[in-house]
Amino acid sequence: MASVKTLVQSENLKSIPSDYAHFKDNEKSIVAGPEVSLPVIDFSLLSSANPDDRAKVIEDLGKACEEWGFFMVINHGIPENLTNALFDVCNEFFDMPEEEKLQFETKHPLYPVMVRSGTVCNDSNQKALFWRDYLRFFVHPEFHCPNKPKEFSDLVLEYSLRTRDLARKLLGGISESLGLEEDYIEKATELDSSMQIFAANYYPPCPQPDLAIGIPPHTDPGLLTFLLQNGVGGLEIKHDGKWFHLDAIPGSIFVNTADQLEIISNGKYKSVWHRAVLNNKKTRISLVVANGPSPDTIVTPASPLLRENPPAYGPMKYREYVEVQRSSRLNQKPTLDQLK
Ligand code: SIN
Ligand code: FE2
Repeated sequence: MASVKTLVQSENLKSIPSDYAHFKDNEKSIVAGPEVSLPVIDFSLLSSANPDDRAKVIEDLGKACEEWGFFMVINHGIPENLTNALFDVCNEFFDMPEEEKLQFETKHPLYPVMVRSGTVCNDSNQKALFWRDYLRFFVHPEFHCPNKPKEFSDLVLEYSLRTRDLARKLLGGISESLGLEEDYIEKATELDSSMQIFAANYYPPCPQPDLAIGIPPHTDPGLLTFLLQNGVGGLEIKHDGKWFHLDAIPGSIFVNTADQLEIISNGKYKSVWHRAVLNNKKTRISLVVANGPSPDTIVTPASPLLRENPPAYGPMKYREYVEVQRSSRLNQKPTLDQLK
């Protein structure tokens, strides 16, 4: 299938092809104003020598995970020249001819590299196409980045190392916010061999942005997902039954909680529903890093949390969880509900 980018470039589109038309979601987005304060976490305080600062940021992390399932991290220490270079190189990747991009697809049984358009994954039951081209591959425990453009794999490697470290430290704070030892989640999910996936999403301008969708509502399978965008908004999260449009603080990283964190916290921290919406003016690029447990970890609710409540979820190996999610049909029961 031709990419959405090619579709938009090759014709002067005034309306979307019918394959891309979705039912309009009648839940309107809310543009968060000053009355809504989206959680902001100052990462530098997690390593503060002042115990009050540290206690405060841990409390903020817990609140953000419990009330929103989402937060923006500032002062995270990942240099802007690295993230800018990463956007440039991803843009170059999407600019390559279709055939060249597709050469990077591999069907590795455990670590496939996907270069796709229109789909979420290999779902043959998908009813309508999505207004998105994407590139997706594993960066840990094995590293499978395309070797073109030239600097691509060096930049992704550097970013994946830094985000892995960020994930480990945030999960330390989140563990403490649950009343667990700082390294509880790190050990329970065997983060040394964590499954980490990098994805670059490319959403060209859409002539009828309200009729199409970039990515439909979903939750992520792992622990924490990090997202950067190229200054163009489109990520929305569901909160108290309403959709909120997120505006990034410049230089911040969006973080959302995912299914495995909901399981470990025994349901205290909810995996947030989110979606990617479109606009008719600018191309949006988002760079996503999904940080999960080790593929072979059997994830269960943290045992110290079961003194007060029975387990809300049964055990499942993370690799199997991801498989179930990947093969489950869209609009089917969420994977997490299958463990209840
Ligand atoms: C995602 O949920 O994987 C990406 C959402 C976005 O591009 O904003
Ligand atoms: Fe997602």
